[in-house]
Amino acid sequence: MKSPKRICCIGAGYVGGPTMAMIAAKCPDIRVDVVDINEARVAAWNTDELPVYEPGLLEVVKEARGRNLFFSTKTDEAIVDADIIFVSVGTPTKTYGMGAGRAADLCYIESAARMIARVARGPKIIVEKSTIPVRTAVAMRAILSANSEEGKFQVLSNPEFLAEGTAVEDLENPDRILIGGERTPEGDAAVETLVSVYNRWIPRENILTTNLWSSELSKLVANAFLAQRISSINSISALCEATEADVDEVARAIGADSRIGPKFLKASVGFGGSCFQKDILNLTYLCEHFGLPEVAAYWDQVIKMNDWQKSRFSANIVQTLFNTVRDKRIAVWGFAFKKDTNDTRESAAIYVCRDLLLEGAQIALYDPRVPVQLIHQELQYAGVSQDIIDQQLTICASCEEAADGAHAVAILTEWDEFRDVDFEQMYASMFKPAFVFDGRDLVDHSQLREIGFEVYAIGKG
Ligand code: UDX
Ligand code: UDX
Ligand code: ADP
Repeated sequence: MKSPKRICCIGAGYVGGPTMAMIAAKCPDIRVDVVDINEARVAAWNTDELPVYEPGLLEVVKEARGRNLFFSTKTDEAIVDADIIFVSVGTPTKTYGMGAGRAADLCYIESAARMIARVARGPKIIVEKSTIPVRTAVAMRAILSANSEEGKFQVLSNPEFLAEGTAVEDLENPDRILIGGERTPEGDAAVETLVSVYNRWIPRENILTTNLWSSELSKLVANAFLAQRISSINSISALCEATEADVDEVARAIGADSRIGPKFLKASVGFGGSCFQKDILNLTYLCEHFGLPEVAAYWDQVIKMNDWQKSRFSANIVQTLFNTVRDKRIAVWGFAFKKDTNDTRESAAIYVCRDLLLEGAQIALYDPRVPVQLIHQELQYAGVSQDIIDQQLTICASCEEAADGAHAVAILTEWDEFRDVDFEQMYASMFKPAFVFDGRDLVDHSQLREIGFEVYAIGKG
């Protein structure tokens, strides 16, 4: 087995950037080049204002940047000299043509594969890092081998399981690393080369190796199972509200069963993020493609339940505020899809804000990390007109500013700082009755009720 000297990664996004930074930090003798066509993004990776907000990431980047970690737009040069090439370009849900709204758009993957075939010299290991539908490796291998001599490329699947907000921790100490390869002597050798990289800091028994298809499918299934747990507990949250049960008590009781386990049972306003919905849509598309409509319908229900959870949260705000929110100021706390990230992809907040804006509400929004332009962009993409955004949305600099003069506060992201608000003072600054809709079970509800707030919380009967 040849030990790799140079690694290149195509795509400097939420996955590629942090993953390569960790590899570079852990393997000072390997040169790691991260390349991207987006110049602004590359420029940001070379400053202290990284394009991805992750606790602890800047320290990891700084340890290796300029030593053996380089961010640039020089894609060709990086590919020519690399022993291992990670492909970590985005795979958004298709917005056009066949499979629109469900299948993954593989145009970035294909263009990366063609670029590699065009410039690569000598044998290389190509690693799929992006989440992709099962059997993409075949397509990738076909493009590569049709454009170069046979056997030059070995394609591996190495899905990333990091979660945003805890990326550094997850990369440092993953539950497992999964590597899939072709079950041939050449494939096995390529797998072992990649194993040797991760093995610098991850025990060998935590590095699972398998065939390409199992590896690709495992990524989709892991995300589908995680999302399914959230939809399951969210469905129960509605039942708890209709009865006198408390969803957190139910989650605690069932989670104590070691066969169920306590994680990923937190009821919420709905899951978001770039992966869960996309991967389930992908899974259902694949099932239908392979003639398994019952399986597709089973997983589709996870998304339907999530959509319902988001819309019932906004409907409840409207109903509670005496069936009209027109011209009422509603403070929205949080726009990111979870705390400790500036990512807004598929965030529940987008849909709750959209519903309230279309009902005529005046939204006063505060999020500690999400830039204004991104908020505008997401709302427009969700169907809110620029006119409505201009007339009904105010971006605030703090929780208190957002709540000032509001009829209600809606908590949509679980940022820690939202707990530190002086609620007595906030109560004094709001219209009465003053409502709090806690979509994350974040604040102390009995304390708020003592102050005088009317509190609605997910899953609390
Ligand atoms: C179940 C619950 O486990 C128990 O906590 C509750 O009190 C009663 O219901 P039981 O029905 O006795 O217990 O057996 P269990 O081991 O849960 O199996 C139920 C069925 O699921 C069996 O047919 C079993 O073969 C099947 N099963 C279980 C699987 O097909 N796959 C599995 O991974 C586990
Ligand atoms: C997820 C997977 O966890 C990760 O393994 C995979 O690589 C990428 O997709 P991510 O989307 O970054 O990671 O965040 P995650 O922590 O899984 O949360 C996803 C969404 O579910 C968030 O909106 C979060 O608020 C929500 N969630 C999570 C709940 O509502 N309840 C929970 O119990 C857990
Ligand atoms: P993920 O969450 O999977 O990391 P992102 O969208 O955050 O996805 O990042 C993907 C990155 O890949 C983007 O910065 C995009 O500019 C980059 N990219 C897409 N296609 C190419 C390509 N052919 N060459 C280089 N970079 C690419």
